[in-house]
Amino acid sequence: MSNKLLSAIFGAGLAALAMSPAALAGDVLADTHTDMGGCESCHVDGDPSADGAQENAACVECHGDMGDMGEPHDVHEGILNCLDCHIMHEQTAADKPQLDAADPKCADCHG
Ligand code: HEC
Ligand code: HEC
Ligand code: HEC
Ligand code: HEC
Repeated sequence: MSNKLLSAIFGAGLAALAMSPAALAGDVLADTHTDMGGCESCHVDGDPSADGAQENAACVECHGDMGDMGEPHDVHEGILNCLDCHIMHEQTAADKPQLDAADPKCADCHG
């Protein structure tokens, strides 16, 4: 695991102490990440880029390259980027896409 990811987890632990329980459950991924590192952890100056390239680079910096992650990441290395499957302002950790070709997100391309 990268140092950056470890320090983000450590920071999240501290932030969680200050958060109400209601803020912890069911939040979309953009919000859980904002609680850890602010909008700036993905967006330069907190503003979204036009093409998502900056945001995608931020994901890789913390989580690593797709080729180093398990299925379904490795099979799409060099073909897709994180944002093709993970919709940060819509999905919670629980309703991220499933590792199943029948998942609607996969079926967009493989259906
Ligand atoms: C974990 C990364 C992440 C964090 C943290 C995050 N965003 Fe985003 N946001 C994204 C991605 C990815 C997109 C879509 C890519 C793009 O179009 O730039 C996006 C899109 C947006 C958009 C465009 C409209 C939309 O919903 O698609 C706005 C506005 C936005 N973010 C504002 C914010 C604000 C304000 C915060 C902090 C409260 C924030 N974001 C935190 C990743 C993040
Ligand atoms: C500043 C570091 C950082 C950035 C930038 C970041 N993440 Fe994360 N992310 C974390 C940490 C820490 C967690 C919580 C620990 C974990 O689940 O790995 C997390 C959790 C997640 C989860 C939920 C894991 C689960 O429990 O199912 C997903 C999915 C995710 N990140 C995807 C992304 C994507 C996609 C981007 C880019 C838009 C991104 N992250 C940007 C640090 C980061
Ligand atoms: C082809 C669609 C797809 C792409 C592209 C993708 N993911 Fe995922 N991601 C998934 C699916 C599906 C899961 C759930 C895997 C499981 O349940 O085993 C997942 C799970 C995760 C998790 C939770 C922990 C784990 O490894 O299961 C994180 C963190 C994550 N993705 C981050 C990323 C990042 C960062 C990128 C870009 C570098 C990315 N993903 C690109 C589909 C994708
Ligand atoms: C944005 C389009 C897109 C999405 C979304 C997508 N894929 Fe793919 N996937 C591709 C492309 C393109 C390839 C490489 C060409 C090929 O082999 O079909 C590929 C290759 C694969 C492969 C390896 C080749 C094969 O067919 O055996 C698997 C397995 C796979 N995808 C599963 C998934 C799963 C599971 C999901 C959902 C979590 C998913 N894909 C989401 C576009 C996508």
